[in-house]
Amino acid sequence: MGTYAVTGSASGMGKATADQLRAAGHTVIGVDLKDADVTADLSTSAGRSAAAAEVLKLATTGLDGAVLAAGLGPGPGDSRSRLIIEVNYFGVVDLLAAWRTELAKSGNAKVVIFSSNSTTTTPVVPGSTIKALLAGDAEKAIASVKRFGKNASAFAYAGSKIGVSRWMRRNAVTAEWAGAGIRLNAIAPGAILTPLLQAQLDDPELAGAIEGFPIPLGTYGQADQIAQWVVFMLSPAADFMTGSLVFVDGGTDALYRSDDW
Ligand code: NAI
Repeated sequence: MGTYAVTGSASGMGKATADQLRAAGHTVIGVDLKDADVTADLSTSAGRSAAAAEVLKLATTGLDGAVLAAGLGPGPGDSRSRLIIEVNYFGVVDLLAAWRTELAKSGNAKVVIFSSNSTTTTPVVPGSTIKALLAGDAEKAIASVKRFGKNASAFAYAGSKIGVSRWMRRNAVTAEWAGAGIRLNAIAPGAILTPLLQAQLDDPELAGAIEGFPIPLGTYGQADQIAQWVVFMLSPAADFMTGSLVFVDGGTDALYRSDDW
């Protein structure tokens, strides 16, 4: 049995993953704004440092893996893009940087990052957003989507998920990660009926776009289904897997880019 840190453990897919890991006998250290083992705000650098340190303190028998599910979707408000960039991107890479040494001690650690199929289905996400993220420049990334006005947060969202996926693929194959026995993979869900998606469906400005988004299988996915994939990606079945971005999205990505892969 292993010990896993799970961010976003209080709701949706993070909670479903934490529940399934615990039911299988693993130890979970959940991180979230509330209702978690570690209560922390991942939208600030200080919050991320505190969360990372607290998890390491609680992981008395070491850390066998991590699931980075905390995140926000697009929504109204001027501060939304900032929150998305801070939590969805830096809430992943800063925590993993802080946990890398401990994960390396396991010898066979597994990390699953929550990406999204918005990475391949959102057109014209600025290259400057991704470049700024990979350079660690939050302010530049936030500024780069401002010109999209009321749609800025949708581009911040897709940018944050492309950024985190690219960070994962670049780092997965390096001496620091693969060389230390740490498998870095990401899951790219499509529309999954969680509180995050429900909030978008309840928002008159966003509902139309969500409902019009084509899903070849014809239904929304469920949090428990995605959690099963994540648990599989933490299991010995994933010993030979690193740098992979796994789409579980009802076919939307394949519909948008059948031949482009
Ligand atoms: P959710 O809203 O049910 O859960 C997200 C969790 O993240 C919440 O418990 C929330 O409190 C936590 N969180 C948000 N801001 C935080 C902060 N500043 N500090 C600490 N925790 C914070 O969302 P859901 O749908 O389960 O999403 C999980 C991940 O999957 C997210 O990264 C999301 O972007 C991604 N995703 C979701 C899709 C969907 O259709 N639901 C589709 C593709 C990706």
